[in-house]
Amino acid sequence: MTIRFNDETFRDDYTFYNSPEAIQRFPFPFDRDDYMYSVNIEPHKTGPKGTPFDVAFDVDEHYVSEMRDRAITLEQDPKRCQSLPHMELAGWDLLELIMTSKVADYPDLFELHRDGNSWRWINKPMGIDDSFTFLDASTLPYGPMEYITRQAQGDFALLDQRDDNLWMDAGMITSQADWSLDFDIGMNFFEWHAPVPKAHEMKIFQRALKFLMNVQQGAQSRRLNWTMTVNPRLDTSPENYHLWGPEKRTVTPENVGQKQYLRVELQTFWRLPRSNALAFPIRCYLANLQDLSSVPKWGRRLHRVIRDLPDELADYKGFAVNRAMIIDYLAQFDDGGETSPGI
Ligand code: HEM
Repeated sequence: MTIRFNDETFRDDYTFYNSPEAIQRFPFPFDRDDYMYSVNIEPHKTGPKGTPFDVAFDVDEHYVSEMRDRAITLEQDPKRCQSLPHMELAGWDLLELIMTSKVADYPDLFELHRDGNSWRWINKPMGIDDSFTFLDASTLPYGPMEYITRQAQGDFALLDQRDDNLWMDAGMITSQADWSLDFDIGMNFFEWHAPVPKAHEMKIFQRALKFLMNVQQGAQSRRLNWTMTVNPRLDTSPENYHLWGPEKRTVTPENVGQKQYLRVELQTFWRLPRSNALAFPIRCYLANLQDLSSVPKWGRRLHRVIRDLPDELADYKGFAVNRAMIIDYLAQFDDGGETSPGI
């Protein structure tokens, strides 16, 4: 598989773009014409070929530029990456999982040579060739979680499992939909989900936690979540709200198709072998309304989902201010015809 990596930005001049292939493989999240929260969890790494669902950790045309964007965010605010002292072993587990998965899924891009605990890691797209001792953090330039997640697209939370709960005790969070690792670090599953509307009454979090606590090694699963973002910005954090919040007011009926992005999170769940921690990668995919609507069934369906979404969800997801404009724009792609179930 050959991937041509885009040279693009996710801030300032926003030169991000999706190639026609990236649009075709976009993980469109709606399998029906309406949307409500649910425990939408299914097995991961099950194809179809070429989609983000076919590999453990998807690498796409945005890889190199996304990693550059992460480095900028970390330089400005190192607290986007934190690991409580008892999570170092989970960091090594994650490093091993990501390295071995990338080598298996992309042998032309990554190499891992192991001789006992002496490891050599080659990341060709990023020009990295490092030798280190597995489980000895002094041999890496960063802690193990930070080292590997500076080379893997998407955010990563590492959850410690104890007292019948999951605790957000480590993470690399630089492309989050308006939540803060620095605020959530050390919280449990119910505490960090407290701001979400409706889902608590629907008992979604009780059921989801029960499922997650029982995820077994080698039986990883996934779910999709979505929201909306103005401009292709990865770092929409509360810390930086003053930078991206005002951009919501720059949307007009003329530019809404280009400026308004659907932001889809492919979330996966992995049990880690030594630490028994749960890894929770959150991979963000961005596509604007214009590109999405080039697939007729997506334009039609997105119109109906956004039009009929409960107000609390549009408020929480932060696009209530532009919702009418989005619906007006998408209406042109909705011929009123039937849509079949499924993506
Ligand atoms: C939102 C973390 C698993 C459902 C969130 C938020 C965080 C988060 C930080 C943002 C809350 C805020 O507004 O501050 C996690 C972590 C998980 C996990 C670390 C894994 C351990 C799940 C699962 C479900 C779920 C399994 C399943 C049903 C939701 C929903 C939202 C949410 C519905 C609101 C999203 C939106 O409307 O955009 N999660 N979550 N989460 N989470 Fe989770």
